[in-house]
Amino acid sequence: MTENAKPSSISRNILFGLTLAVTVLFVVTSVVFAKPPVQASDGEALFKEKCVACHTIGGGDLVGPDLQGVTERQDQAWLKQWILAPDQVLASGDPIATELFKKYNSIPMPNLGLTPDQVDSLLAYLGGGATTGGAGAELPAGDATSGKAYFVGDKRLENGGPHCISCHSIAGLGSLGGGNLGPDLTTSGFVKSSAAFASFMGAPSTQTMGAIWANTPLTPQEQADLYAFLSKASVTQREPSALLQIAILAIIGAAALIALEQFYWRKRLKGVRKPMIERARALKR
Ligand code: HEC
Ligand code: HEC
Repeated sequence: MTENAKPSSISRNILFGLTLAVTVLFVVTSVVFAKPPVQASDGEALFKEKCVACHTIGGGDLVGPDLQGVTERQDQAWLKQWILAPDQVLASGDPIATELFKKYNSIPMPNLGLTPDQVDSLLAYLGGGATTGGAGAELPAGDATSGKAYFVGDKRLENGGPHCISCHSIAGLGSLGGGNLGPDLTTSGFVKSSAAFASFMGAPSTQTMGAIWANTPLTPQEQADLYAFLSKASVTQREPSALLQIAILAIIGAAALIALEQFYWRKRLKGVRKPMIERARALKR
C-alpha cells in the first residue's frame, strides 16, 4: 500500500491537473463559441427561424432560390453538405455552388452553424412537399439623405437600434469610414436589390446582425431610406478625394506631432538653461 502511495498521488495530481485544464478549456470554449440556443428541433420551425429571410418554398425567388423541389433537383449528400457549411462548399470550388452564387447576385449563403441533426430535419421538411408564402412586402420609396443620417448616427432609429457606422464602412463616407466588425457594405450583394436588403434586414439570420436587430427592428421606412443610401453609395466606389483627405490628415497629424515635440523641447531647454544662467549670475555677484 505504502509503496503505491507516491506514484498514485502523483498520478492523482496529474489527473487533477488534467481535469482542471479540461474544465477551464471547456468553460473558455463554451463562452467563446457560445451560439444562441436552438429554439425548435423540427424542420418547419427551423426553416421559419433561419431560412425564410432568404428563401420561399413555392413563393418565388428571394435573395436565394425558391426551394420547392430542391430535394429532387439536387443530390441528397450535396444538400446536406451545403446546408451544413455553404461557405466551405463554395470555397472548395464546387461547380453547382459556383453556378448558384453567380446566378444569385454573388450573395453567399451564410453558414448558419447548424448541427447535422438539424440539417436532417430541414431536409425532411423540404422534401415533404410543404410550401410557404411568397416574398415579403416591397419597400416604400426611400430617401438617401435620411438613409445616410441613420447610417452615421445623425438621426435616431425609431426602435433604438445601433447605427450601422459603428460596425460597417461604405464608400462615400469620407476618409475615416466606419467600424470593421461587420463587412464593408460597398460590395455587398445585399445592397444590390431592395428585395434582398428588405428580407435580410427584416429578420437577419446571421449571428451578429440577428442578435442586434431581433429586439430593435428597423421600420420599413428606415429600411427603405437605408437602402436608397447604400445602393447609391455602393456604385460610387471610394472616390480619389477620400485618398487626398487621408493624405491631408496625415500631414496635419505629423505637423501636430512636431509642434508638440517643439513645445516639450523648448521646456526642456529652458529647464537646463535657467539654472545655468542663475548659477552664472550667482558667481558674478
Ligand atoms: C442570407 C440569405 C440566406 C439564408 C438565411 C439562407 N440561404 Fe440558402 N441560399 C442563399 C443563396 C443566396 C443561395 C444561392 C447560392 C449562393 O448564392 O451562394 C442559397 C442556396 C440554397 C440552396 C440550394 C438551392 C438550389 O436551388 O440548389 C439550398 C438547399 C438552401 N439555400 C437552403 C437553405 C436553408 C435550409 C436555409 C436555412 C437553414 C438557408 N438556405 C438559409 C441564401 C440564404
Ligand atoms: C454591432 C455591429 C453591427 C452593427 C451596428 C450593424 N451591423 Fe451589419 N453586420 C455586422 C456583422 C458582424 C455582419 C456579418 C454577419 C453577422 O455576423 O451577422 C453584418 C452583416 C451585414 C450585412 C450583410 C453583408 C454581407 O454582404 O454579407 C448587411 C447588409 C448589414 N450588416 C447591414 C447593416 C445595416 C444597414 C446596419 C445599420 C442599420 C448594420 N448592418 C448595423 C455587424 C453590425
